[in-house]
Amino acid sequence: MTKDDILQLLRSSSSGFVSGARLAATMGVSRTAVWKHIRALEQDGYEIAAVPSKGYRLTSSPDLIIRGELLRGLRTHIIGKSVRYFPDTPSTNAVAMELAQRGEADGMVVLAEAQTAGRGRLGRTWVSPRGNLYLSVLLRPPVPVGKAPLLTLVGAVAVASAIRQHLELPAGIKWPNDILLAGRKVAGLLTELSAEQDRIRHVVLGIGVNVNMALRDLPPEVRRRSTTLAEEAGAHVDRTALLRLMLEVLDRWYGRFLEGEDAVLAAWKELNVTLGKRVTVSGAGADFTGIARGVDQEGRLLVRLSDGTLRQVAAGDVTIAKDDH
Ligand code: BTN
Repeated sequence: MTKDDILQLLRSSSSGFVSGARLAATMGVSRTAVWKHIRALEQDGYEIAAVPSKGYRLTSSPDLIIRGELLRGLRTHIIGKSVRYFPDTPSTNAVAMELAQRGEADGMVVLAEAQTAGRGRLGRTWVSPRGNLYLSVLLRPPVPVGKAPLLTLVGAVAVASAIRQHLELPAGIKWPNDILLAGRKVAGLLTELSAEQDRIRHVVLGIGVNVNMALRDLPPEVRRRSTTLAEEAGAHVDRTALLRLMLEVLDRWYGRFLEGEDAVLAAWKELNVTLGKRVTVSGAGADFTGIARGVDQEGRLLVRLSDGTLRQVAAGDVTIAKDDH
């Protein structure tokens, strides 16, 4: 018996109450063992009332990702067949890269409630307080190394689509990997690759989504450009349900990607807020401005400069001109 089983029984009781005797009998353990599990649940942040002659009743749950609930009914083929969960970790991407080296299978997911050394793109820090989603997915796609950047697009399509589906909010993608709502960043993706010659050993797709955190937990310069799903939806968001949907949508898009990149590129273009806009590209040598025209088959951004030349951008930051939102 685990405390998860007790939780499950408390949750499924129609009257709300389950007697200690019934819990003990159902689980085949002593009432003292039941009591110990109840204490452990309270230490995890659950509030459980004990009423003489009625039993125990769950009165409130902490806002944690419940692994059991996440996995129950998860309809995926590859993603999430194994899930590692951490209350805190330096970086889910770092953990996933390490587990990948030890031979973990395609689709493993590493989840954390908070990160102490979250990694952002271009060597930046991803500030990772509680209340959000931090996950990394291990992928071992049998495709050439040149196709690896497309996995960021696969992730971006999945995250934006899941947000749209779950909350009916118009999430869009800013190249290469920012998910925006109302012009502010609500999620980011960081793909890390291990390869030899032309073969991908593994890719770790890291996803950070601002869900319920207080925006004041972010440093001021990041806060100005950021928002959260709760802020945009005007209500607290069920992270476990959103995460389950996100894994299911990602599983479908990963499957399509393995059949060829056309469907992914088409969906990415559909959700894109960069194309056709005047953009400034920075962080990849000298800054330059032009019109974002599209992406090539490798996921690089194509920017038309004022002299008519077309530049391929593999990495960098894109700012959409203010008068062009
Ligand atoms: C960006 O700079 O926009 C990318 C941010 C990616 C953050 C996620 S959170 C989960 C995973 N673990 C990390 O350390 N980073 C990624």
